[in-house]
Amino acid sequence: MAAKSPSINKPLPVRITGRIQETPRIATLEFAVPGVRPVPGQFFMVWIPGVDEIPMSVASIDNDRGIYAVSVAAVGEATAALFAKDVGDKIGIRGPFGNGFDVSVGDGGACIIGGGVGMAALKPLVSVLLEQRKNLIVINAARTKSELLYHESFEKSIAPGMTYFISTDDGTCGEKCLGHELLVSLLGQGKIRADKVYTCGPELMMRQVFLACKERAMRVEASLERMMRCGSGLCGLCALDPGGLLVCKDGPVFSGDQLGGVTEFGNYKRDLSGKRIPLKK
Ligand SMILES: Cc1cc2nc3c(=O)[nH]c(=O)nc-3n(C[C@H](O)[C@H](O)[C@H](O)COP(=O)(O)OP(=O)(O)OC[C@H]3O[C@@H](n4cnc5c(N)ncnc54)[C@H](O)[C@@H]3O)c2cc1C
Ligand code: FES
Repeated sequence: MAAKSPSINKPLPVRITGRIQETPRIATLEFAVPGVRPVPGQFFMVWIPGVDEIPMSVASIDNDRGIYAVSVAAVGEATAALFAKDVGDKIGIRGPFGNGFDVSVGDGGACIIGGGVGMAALKPLVSVLLEQRKNLIVINAARTKSELLYHESFEKSIAPGMTYFISTDDGTCGEKCLGHELLVSLLGQGKIRADKVYTCGPELMMRQVFLACKERAMRVEASLERMMRCGSGLCGLCALDPGGLLVCKDGPVFSGDQLGGVTEFGNYKRDLSGKRIPLKK
């Protein structure tokens, strides 16, 4: 009998087959999911038995073997429970959901800028663009050195055509600044010539990346996060003001043109009741 695939409505139980402690508060969990072919930028709804079901970017894609991973940062009840899982533990998977990144990049190459656990959504994109032999600039930003996600793996995988920059808020590794500040500085010094910029991370960082790209007429795509329930366009919880774009279905990846019309981008999000939560500036 063929192995079961996840459906939109019902999580497929899977066992964790690998766990990497990436940073003190981020872990990568690996598992097999038959019958799916996620693309970079898509996400799974991950069910943590007895706790909750939450969206997680597909952080590693091996479609040949059907092996995938998520990288989870412990920030609240569900993420802490997922972070605590280990090899052999059971979780549930629905999806993949969302649109994914548009991986068409011109000869000028691409710049990828990830902040904190946002790099999880971007890692499969790095692999695809390297396979396409595009010139690639990766900016990895975190609060402090120990929180730089995939830092060692990026250092090891630097390939011809790839340049790797680091920023930390406290200056313990790379430049002492915020991720978007490093991007603006590198653009100013002429060290970044890219056709397209991809970003995922804290929304205030993504807003500044968007503005820097807009000023220079550079193409940009950003992967947004909002509270989600269904993950598949049914409940409306993840709708963005004012047009009602759904982060789970129309996104999570949005182009610069789309972001320009989203008034809440970089300003506020909503809690489970729909109440506005201003983003901390
Ligand atoms: C498409 C998508 C992909 C994501 N990918 C990842 C990933 O790869 N790794 C990862 O660690 N996290 C990811 N997240 C965020 C993750 O889903 C939330 O951190 C998680 O749902 C919080 O649940 P909790 O019970 O641990 O925290 P809660 O107790 O519910 O909340 C803790 C804090 O996180 C905020 N929060 C809760 N849910 C979200 C959300 N969906 N988006 C933004 N802030 C939220 C709350 O406002 C609160 O400040 C993703 C979110 C989306 C929408
Ligand atoms: S989470 Fe239900 S519509 Fe997006």
